[in-house]
Amino acid sequence: MKAQFITLEGSEGVGKTSNLEYIKSLLDASGIDYIVTREPGGTPLSEALRDLLLGHDYKGMADDTELLLMFAARAEHVAKVIKPALEKGQWVLCDRFTDATYAYQGGGRQLDVQRIEGLEQWVLGDLRPDLTLLLDAPVEIGRERAGKRSEPDRFEQERDAFFNRVRDCYLARAEVEPDRIRVIDASGDLASVQQQIKQIFDPLLAS
Ligand code: TMP
Repeated sequence: MKAQFITLEGSEGVGKTSNLEYIKSLLDASGIDYIVTREPGGTPLSEALRDLLLGHDYKGMADDTELLLMFAARAEHVAKVIKPALEKGQWVLCDRFTDATYAYQGGGRQLDVQRIEGLEQWVLGDLRPDLTLLLDAPVEIGRERAGKRSEPDRFEQERDAFFNRVRDCYLARAEVEPDRIRVIDASGDLASVQQQIKQIFDPLLAS
């Protein structure tokens, strides 16, 4: 099977970090050669852009600037890390990718979707994830879990209305592309979430 490009998505506090560890354990158990990376980030330049995007130094950043910086970070990440790994036959497990731009900049910030589509085409060509796991939970549950962590970043401090638009956008995308974007009910405990993830990975790892 060709090297798979797998992305993990979801709103704040849905448990991406713990579930990423679980996915790694499934890949390890199957002897898959893979890398783990994240967006925005994944290269020194893209991580520097992440700091600008998530930090509080540029709180009033224009929405278009935010969108363009996300894609600048992505262009670097795709060129330097994602494509080379896939070409070498390594699977890529990426914590967020372009679906996050549709959800946060398109849904949350309400930017024109056609702009995002244009940038996606420009920066990615025909590169798309093979599989996207969408961890989904009501915004209140995510907020309660995320609230227990450290100081909120520039996105985490947005209001519930923003995150409801983010969630709705993710779910709408999953409806349009149900084969690629698999929705996981992340409102329950970790064991129930992991069981759903295993069910998705079992056939993939067996083939
Ligand atoms: P996280 O990876 O720790 O969840 O933080 C990344 C933040 O950046 C998260 O709030 C979502 C946001 N983000 C966007 O707004 N657009 C994007 O394209 C990506 C990749 C992330």
